[in-house]
Amino acid sequence: MSRVVSAAALPFDVAAVLGDATEYVAPAAGRMARDALLAAAADADALITLLRDEVNDALLDAAPRLRIVANCAVGYDNVDVAACTRRGIAVTNTPGVLTEATADFAFALMLAAARRVVEGDAMVRGGTWTGWEPGQLLGVPVAGATLGIIGLGRIGQAVARRARGFDMTVLYAGPREVAAAGELGARRVTLAELWAASDFVSVCCPLDDSTHHIVDAAALAAMKPTAILVNTSRGPCVDEAALARALADGIIAGAGLDVYEREPDVDPGLRTSGRAVLAPHAGSATTTTRAKMAEICARAVRDALEGRRPETVVNPEIYA
Ligand code: GLV
Repeated sequence: MSRVVSAAALPFDVAAVLGDATEYVAPAAGRMARDALLAAAADADALITLLRDEVNDALLDAAPRLRIVANCAVGYDNVDVAACTRRGIAVTNTPGVLTEATADFAFALMLAAARRVVEGDAMVRGGTWTGWEPGQLLGVPVAGATLGIIGLGRIGQAVARRARGFDMTVLYAGPREVAAAGELGARRVTLAELWAASDFVSVCCPLDDSTHHIVDAAALAAMKPTAILVNTSRGPCVDEAALARALADGIIAGAGLDVYEREPDVDPGLRTSGRAVLAPHAGSATTTTRAKMAEICARAVRDALEGRRPETVVNPEIYA
């Protein structure tokens, strides 16, 4: 009997997809600690992992029977894909189903940071609001502003589509021209042009060596002092300490962040900054999206264990 281990309780009936011939092991609630995952991996044929589980040699060595790692996220920078490929282990992710939810969230953060929604909420709750005043809680306009998107992939394109409804000028930077950019009204520019021209910068690229700290101190210094940075991608795309300093020194005006360099730790300078809106990595957190992500993992595991190539495999070369 095959054994499938999930690092966390998932909001979907994974066992029903796997069928009776497969044993499904998952915590009743919450997630497995690293030690428990390492122990459970020992006789696992398949692992369903979270973006916070490092899938490295240590985990793979502890899982000699493993045939698939189904990462329950679109990003898979937590997985050493080369190490999996060397062992003939399939790696899958969950693209597509979280695109709209994450783009919604990028806009939620953009609007919240621009219009100081969290500061206003604190005023109302804290009883410090004394009523409407002309100069109170002034923010920056979103409609008609210029939005610079780093990475015009699925999520970046969904952000660009929303930006059209806000009459924004959309720029993007990335390694190649994107065919869909034309119909989205998005213009490709260099990073230097994007920093200089954008009122809002939205980070939508995957994390890899080329995007690690793509927003660093120099990039922040090149942005407008009124600019707002939004990151719904991966924390290490932004130099968090440099961002905290830039907000404190008024180098940029604000930030809306969903991801951090060392989650769940967050730079104390950001936690105390009144100019940062901080979300707990919740971009894909809608009931339907999280269920669909888990369903994709379940189907990928079933396919791999039944000898089929999973639709969302990221290392298809193992099937060559
Ligand atoms: C979430 O961050 C994901 O990559 O799915």
